[in-house]
Amino acid sequence: MTLSKLLRKRRNVYGFESRAIPDKSLVRILEDARHVPSAGFTQDFEFIVVKDPMIRRELATAGHQPEYTSEGLAISDFISRAPVIVVPCGNKKRFEAKYGRAEQNARLPWWLIDAGFASFALILSAFEHGLVASFLGALDDEKVRQILNLPIDGSIVPLALVPIGYKDPGEEVLWTQRSRKAVRDRRGLADLVHWNGW
Ligand SMILES: Cc1cc2nc3c(=O)[nH]c(=O)nc-3n(C[C@H](O)[C@H](O)[C@H](O)COP(=O)(O)O)c2cc1C
Repeated sequence: MTLSKLLRKRRNVYGFESRAIPDKSLVRILEDARHVPSAGFTQDFEFIVVKDPMIRRELATAGHQPEYTSEGLAISDFISRAPVIVVPCGNKKRFEAKYGRAEQNARLPWWLIDAGFASFALILSAFEHGLVASFLGALDDEKVRQILNLPIDGSIVPLALVPIGYKDPGEEVLWTQRSRKAVRDRRGLADLVHWNGW
């Protein structure tokens, strides 16, 4: 698929089959996500890859899974059913190892921006390889920290849960509705682009 088509076809997905994805595909997707730009080439992002079913269930709770289903936005247990959940994290310490204290030396939290680039590369690659994925940023941070045993000093910042897998055919109706909405509500260039200044 061309990049233009991939960008237009990708949707956040709210229903996954439990079927495992081949390790080869998973590694390929993670490899692709390495090839993003980062501040000063610090590569200040990391991925926690969760396959363990019990940890996936715990993460789903931290990601408010029941609220999606009760609001009719998702097929039940869509997060925990996905065979893999990747948690992309910004690594502030790695940024600071090169540039010094972030509070003085970073105009913006570049480790989060870099982790965002890597997350999107990961998601696009999943779609390119016949899989689907979501980016779910609403998290109970303290729960995620405990579940994944993240350092208490806040140096590793989880961005989101990114469940990856095969799309559940039962998700098709919701998918079509969301795709129509995306076409209808997407802002045009006139709303987003300023030529030669604000
Ligand atoms: C920073 C960020 C945080 C997001 N957090 C959530 C979230 O917590 N739950 C959710 O359902 N979608 C979340 N999304 C997905 C957006 O809602 C989604 O991308 C948007 O509605 C457009 O839909 P599309 O991705 O299918 O094009 C998030 C996306 C971004 C970029």
